[in-house]
Amino acid sequence: MLKKLIKIAIISMISGTIMFAANFNAQAEKDRKAFVNYFLMKFKNPVLNRAKYFPYVPLKELKKNYIYPLKFQDFQNGSLAWYKPSKEQFAEINDFPPYEIPLDDGEALFKKPFANGRTYSSCFPNPAIKQNYPYYDTHRDEIVTIGMAVNECRAINGEKPLKYGKGDLAKVVAYIAFKSRGKKIDIKIPNAKAAKAYEAGKKIFYKQRGYLTLSCAECHVKSSGKRLRAESLSPALGDTTEMPVYRLKWGGLGTLQRRLAGCIKQTGSEKPKLQSKPLKQLAYFLTYMSNGMKLFGPDTRK
Ligand code: HEC
Repeated sequence: MLKKLIKIAIISMISGTIMFAANFNAQAEKDRKAFVNYFLMKFKNPVLNRAKYFPYVPLKELKKNYIYPLKFQDFQNGSLAWYKPSKEQFAEINDFPPYEIPLDDGEALFKKPFANGRTYSSCFPNPAIKQNYPYYDTHRDEIVTIGMAVNECRAINGEKPLKYGKGDLAKVVAYIAFKSRGKKIDIKIPNAKAAKAYEAGKKIFYKQRGYLTLSCAECHVKSSGKRLRAESLSPALGDTTEMPVYRLKWGGLGTLQRRLAGCIKQTGSEKPKLQSKPLKQLAYFLTYMSNGMKLFGPDTRK
């Protein structure tokens, strides 16, 4: 009897802490589950479920060019996951991945001593950390991105910050991403303020913007799996796992925020500043949506 009572007490203590910890991400978890479910259902059998999800795609096209069913981890591949011609094209390109040279540069930069003799390892003794970024820093009361962490490491060591978005910063982040490959995204919502930041990011994702009045969701949820001129629209699930990304269009690496800012501009809105609050909130929301998915960065895209 006593044993049983102790057992019950322990169980309720444990579940009590879990419930307490889960409080701040309750809404986010609800959103995430619905998000994941939508994409899994949508890409389970596009031919069979054409009327519901792909009414404007000719049946012939669905049968010929669509890959299905997609499993959770498949969404790591963006539009390459579901569109056969893109997948084949990129399989060929990735025989010699174009990100390899900038990735090597990133490793060299990571290991090169600063003027004080220390290296990035002084801040990141284990560089397999990308799965936890961006994270909400409860002391500073702000979202900290991986790019910020790199520049803060430089500041501690008396070095000038690197320009965000591309170049050496993207290369160092690529090396960190590479070392983090296979780790599952694990974004947390530690307190009420973090939950607010998440909600702000969500709002940005669903808000119609620019003279085209398009939201991220319009293209990357509702229209994901459709062709837009020469593009095939990627599902928002899995976005951020491939970052930083080598884009053939850029001829180099770019960070998540560079990509997000580009998409915002495309819709006819003013391009937001990198590391601005709204962009970080958007990244926080979007990365949370892919919690549990394995990282595979850097990767290649059109
Ligand atoms: C008019 C449609 C459209 C809108 C609106 C739009 N995008 Fe995109 N986005 C694209 C296209 C086209 C691409 C390139 C093909 C692809 O991967 O989907 C792309 C690519 C991306 C990628 C890279 C995907 C990958 O696999 O590397 C991300 C991330 C992204 N968009 C996020 C967003 C976010 C966040 C918003 C809202 C601020 C947004 N997009 C709004 C059309 C759009």
